[in-house]
Amino acid sequence: MIIETERLILRPFVESDAADVYEYLKEPAVNCFASMKLNSLDEAVAEMKKRSSETEYYFAIVLKETGKVIGEIDAYPEAGEPHGDETAPKDTFSPCWMLNLNYTGKGYAFEAAHAFFDYLFNEKGARRIYAYTEDYNTASQRLCEKLGMRREGLFLEFISFVNNPDGTPHYENTYEYAILKREWDDRK
Ligand SMILES: CC(C)(COP(=O)(O)OP(=O)(O)OC[C@H]1O[C@@H](n2cnc3c(N)ncnc32)[C@H](O)[C@@H]1OP(=O)(O)O)[C@@H](O)C(=O)NCCC(=O)NCCS
Repeated sequence: MIIETERLILRPFVESDAADVYEYLKEPAVNCFASMKLNSLDEAVAEMKKRSSETEYYFAIVLKETGKVIGEIDAYPEAGEPHGDETAPKDTFSPCWMLNLNYTGKGYAFEAAHAFFDYLFNEKGARRIYAYTEDYNTASQRLCEKLGMRREGLFLEFISFVNNPDGTPHYENTYEYAILKREWDDRK
C-alpha cells in the first residue's frame, strides 16, 4: 500500500532505508520508543528486512522532494472491546508516530497522520483510533488535538519504559486521546 499526500509518500520500508532510519533510531527521542533503539547500521539493515514484509499497517514517511525517510507511522487492528473473546471485531487502532527531529515543526507529522487516519477509517474498517502520550510530550499532544482527538484521561504512573538510576522502574503519566469514525467524518 502506498499513500500519497502533497509533500509525502507513506510506503512500506525497504532495506535501503536503513541509514535514514538509523539516523533517528540510534537515539530514540522519547522513552516509549527506547526498545526500538538501533545500535549500528547492521542492526538497522536487519530491522528493515523484518519491516519490509509489513505492507498494510507500518509505513515509512518519505519526503517526496528528496526521497529521504524522515519518520514512520504504524498502527495495528485491535479488538475494541477489552473483554471480548476472539470474535470481537478488530476495529480499534493505536498509532505510533515518530519523525527524525531535524524534520519536525514543518507540518509533516500532521500531514502523514491525517492521511493515515483517512486510510484506517475509510479502508481498514477503523471505528476508533486512540493514542497514548506521555504527559510531558506536548508535541504529540498537540498533534492529537489537531487531528480532532479528544483527551479522554490522564493515567498516573501508568507505564515504565526505562529504569531510574537505582534500577527501579521509572513510571510515567500518560494521556489517552481518541477519535471515532463518526467524529472524523463530521470534521469533513
Ligand atoms: C510528535 C511529533 C511526531 C510531532 O511532530 P511535529 O513536526 O511537531 O508535528 P506537526 O506535523 O503537527 O508540525 C508542527 C508544526 O509545524 C508547523 N508548520 C511549519 N510549516 C508547516 C507547513 N508547511 N504546513 C503545516 N504546518 C507547518 C505547524 O505550524 C505546526 O505547529 P503548530 O502545531 O504550533 O501549529 C514529533 O515531535 C516527534 O517525532 N517526536 C518524537 C517522537 C514522539 O514523541 N512520538 C510520539 C510518542 S507518544
